[in-house]
Amino acid sequence: MVHVKILPDKAHASEEVAQMLHDLIVEKPNAVIGVATGSTPEGAYERLAEKITENRTDVSQLQFFALDEYIGLPWEHPESYHSVIHRCVTVPLGVEPAQVHVPEAPDDSTVGPVDDYDQKIAAAGGIDLQLLGIGRNGHIGFNETGTPFNAPTHVGELTEITREDNSRFFEGGVDEVPPLAVTQGIGTILKARKIVLMAFGEGKVDAIRDSLEKPPAEERPGSSLQLHDDCTFYLDEAAAAKVGHS
Ligand code: GLP
Repeated sequence: MVHVKILPDKAHASEEVAQMLHDLIVEKPNAVIGVATGSTPEGAYERLAEKITENRTDVSQLQFFALDEYIGLPWEHPESYHSVIHRCVTVPLGVEPAQVHVPEAPDDSTVGPVDDYDQKIAAAGGIDLQLLGIGRNGHIGFNETGTPFNAPTHVGELTEITREDNSRFFEGGVDEVPPLAVTQGIGTILKARKIVLMAFGEGKVDAIRDSLEKPPAEERPGSSLQLHDDCTFYLDEAAAAKVGHS
């Protein structure tokens, strides 16, 4: 069962999500938080950073686990997810790099499971709250169409649509976007105690409708979230435009 909250715009949704994250951190100072990259959660991270500063919130015991990372992109590259998470989460929230984990796989990896990330998450106590965005084609993390719902953290291939969408971050265009990535699997994501997915803009409208209103199936990675018992979608009106009309 997925709960749906439709907000007037991204700013309102980011504020609500940031408040919920801040409430969690106050209530559980050693919370384990799953963080997503992409443009969608940036506003929530900014608002959360402001709340932490305003309230002098203790962040010293938090742990963060990123969803995914490209393969073959040096960590120093500004668009590696190591760099993005450092820039958007670690630095603004004022946490130590050792509190923030990003999945890793060797540059010569091929498609298949990656050993120790899921164990690391379990050793930290499991994820209390997992933030997600969603791709235009319905991918979550880098779990593309066809990923089994019980997949652990693994290396997978990116679809052309995902590489094209993400090419906007790369000066060299789509050729610079790696074809492989390591990602928390759908099985990993579904183990989080609470999941929050944000989606904004009309580009996400079909992915959101398919995730919420079509039966859960591997061809629709976002639809796996229907199997979770505490998942909420925070949408703006554009992304929610096709919800409730079928
Ligand atoms: C990437 C990330 C996803 C993210 C998606 C959407 O592919 N791996 O975690 O949800 O992009 O990105 P955006 O939020 O920029 O639309």
